[in-house]
Formats: sequence, C-alpha cells, structure tokens
Amino acid sequence: EHKPVVIVGAGVSGLALGNFLLREGIDCVVLERRDRDHVERRQRAGVIDTRATRAFRKRGLEDRVVGGAPVQAGLGFRLDGRDRWLELAVEEQLEGRFCPQQVLVRNLITVFEQDGGDLRFGAEVAVEDIDRPRVRLGDGSIIEGDFIAGCDGSHGATRAAVPEDRITHHSHEYGYAWLVVLAEVPAVRPTLLAIHQRGFAAQFGRGPTASRFYLQCPLGDTAEDWPDERIWSELETRFGEPIATRGPIVEKQPMPLRGEVLSPMSHGGLHLLGDAAHIVPPASAKGMNLALYDADALADALVHYYRKDDPSLLDAYSDTRLREVWNYQAFATWFTDTVHDAGDATYRGEFRHRVARADFERLFISGTANRLLGEFIAGLN
Ligand code: APR
Repeated sequence: EHKPVVIVGAGVSGLALGNFLLREGIDCVVLERRDRDHVERRQRAGVIDTRATRAFRKRGLEDRVVGGAPVQAGLGFRLDGRDRWLELAVEEQLEGRFCPQQVLVRNLITVFEQDGGDLRFGAEVAVEDIDRPRVRLGDGSIIEGDFIAGCDGSHGATRAAVPEDRITHHSHEYGYAWLVVLAEVPAVRPTLLAIHQRGFAAQFGRGPTASRFYLQCPLGDTAEDWPDERIWSELETRFGEPIATRGPIVEKQPMPLRGEVLSPMSHGGLHLLGDAAHIVPPASAKGMNLALYDADALADALVHYYRKDDPSLLDAYSDTRLREVWNYQAFATWFTDTVHDAGDATYRGEFRHRVARADFERLFISGTANRLLGEFIAGLN
C-alpha cells in the first residue's frame, strides 16, 4: 500500500495535519495505536490561541472544529490571596478560545471522517525506514509513503526511529512539579492563577462542569502524598478563598515540569510535529498550539511540494519551526518561573523570588512588557 503522507498518531498534531491535507487535496492516512474512545477522552490542554484559530480559519475549518468561549484580553491572578486582574493591552483583538483538547480532538475526528479521510484506530506503527519512508503495522502490513509525519507524541515510534547520531535532545528540568487534579467542579472564572508563598496553584475550566487544578509540589511527591482533603485545603490556602463547591476528584497525578526540544525536526522523509519534537510546560498553554503551528507549517510545505513541485518549504521546515519553538521555550521558561518564583522562595531562593516579583509587577507597570506577554499569549510573534 502506498500513501503520499503517512501520519503517525491521532493526537492534536496528527489530526490537524490530516484535516489540513484533506482540504488541500493531498492524500494521507492517519494511523493511531489506541482506540477511538481513548483518544477522544484524553484531557490535557484547554486553550487554542489566536494564531492557531486563524490556521483553522485559513482552511475553512474554524466553525467546524473550534468551539468554546472566547479568551479574554486579561489574566486573573490571586496574588497572596487577593484578586489581581492583569488587563492585556493587545493591539489586535484576541481570537483564541477556551476549547478543551478533547472537544477539539473529537471535532477533528468527526470532520476528517465526514470529509472522507482515512483514519485507522488500533494501528500500532513501527517505523521501518525514514529515508525511503516505510512503516509496518501491528498486523504485519506495510505502508509506504513519500513522507512520514511523526505526530506520535514524546514516547512515540517516529522520534525513536532517528539514529542517535542524527538528533540532539535538548532538555530542561524546572526543578519543581505540579500535582494535576481533574475534578467535577465548575470553574468560577475561566482561568485563575494563584501566586502564593506556599507555591503556585491554578484552576482552568474544562467545559461547564469540570476543572483542572494545578498545585506546585516538590519533585518526587506521589498521588498518595495528596489525599483529597489535603488538595482542597491547600487550594483554598493558596487561592485565599474557599472553593465554592467540592466535587469528586476523578484524577490526580504528579508531573515534573520540563522542557524539551529535538533538533533537527526533519530527517530524510520524516518530519516531526508536536510533542514528538518538543515539550513545553503546561503553564505556558503553548503545547497544543505549537502542535497546531507545526501542522499548519508542514501542510503549507507539502502543498508547495505537490502543487508547485517546490521542496524549499519542506527543506526549511525544521529550521523555521525550531526558531519559533525556541522563542516559545523562552516564553515558557520566563512565564513559568515567574509565576512560581514570585510566590515561593524555597525552590530557588530569595534572590530569584525578588527578581520574579519584579518580572511580575512589570506586567502591570510597563506597557511594553504587557504587550509582549499579550503577543506570546496570542501566538503572534
Ligand atoms: N503508532 C501509532 N500511534 C502512536 C504510536 C505508534 N507507535 N505511538 C504513539 N501514538 C499515538 C498516541 O496514542 C497518541 O494518540 O500518537 C498520539 C500522540 O498524540 P499527543 O501525545 O496528543 O501528541 P500531539 O498530537 O503532538 O499533541 C501535542 O497537545 O496534548 C496536547 O498539550 C499537549 O503538548 C501536547 C499537544
């Protein structure tokens, strides 16, 4: 079997790329090892930024796949237990949406299938060759392609198929972790970020009836260290206000905060996208968006290749993407460290704490600093 583009993984990056290619009339197959139910239920990110929204609009997909409330031009903080609203002085209207990842994924699957896309669940891929692209499925069948799009996440088969001497892993440990909590509690405000001496905490709505809570915790903490009662009382301390309703906690998981970039992102006929190529900590809200920018850029490059017989955008894919990925890693380290260090001095000391307070206060004082944050949030720089 031959398919021009073989897309490995039906997460955000694989499904977005599949839909973009389908709209452009480029034949492809999306291969996903898990079943549909698993993929559609996976909860993680929750914000589609302005730039990513426009990428869907550009291909006439915005109304069919992007849902949720519009993002506001501001961020709600609880600073030392008190409300502090940061208005963002953005030059252009923000067009992002609070769209839970599973809603986006479900919509992308529906649209892809409605438009006749070839999407196969339960198809575990092993990569046979990246220079003359060839993959093998669990049942032994082989699919050859002009290209492989590696959209299979940070533990996937495509990045692992690149020989070690052809790829560099750059990684960064932030030195602290989050306890990620999913609870059946409606969010009072769409986003709430607590900066507090006991550590960072946040609440993000995930649809009308659920929220994800994040609690900064030491590396090495386990879910057993955090009984439900401790989670609620720690959230109330850090927010400095009672949680209006305490619903059932359906998931809790510690997650060390880290950044990673694989370089280059292209190898022969293989191009890496999304988490397969880079990880940013969730405080930046850029993981899903970077995956979408990658899909947009690779789709454009493939259109040039197939329609104009011009491989220049494909050849430039890795360099162009990496420039931007590093820009967003820079934003992610700045923003993540600021909101953690501004509250708590125990992880990185009093000096970093005071620097972070200055970084934070500047957002309210300097129009330039404020606009820069707004640009990063929109994805427009
Ligand atoms: N064969 C087929 N599919 C595979 C294989 C394999 N060998 N290995 C992994 N997969 C699938 C996974 O089951 C998963 O559905 O690839 C998919 C990868 O999806 P994601 O991990 O969601 O990665 P990506 O699409 O890059 O999403 C990036 O979205 O989840 C948010 O913020 C998050 O940063 C992340 C972003």
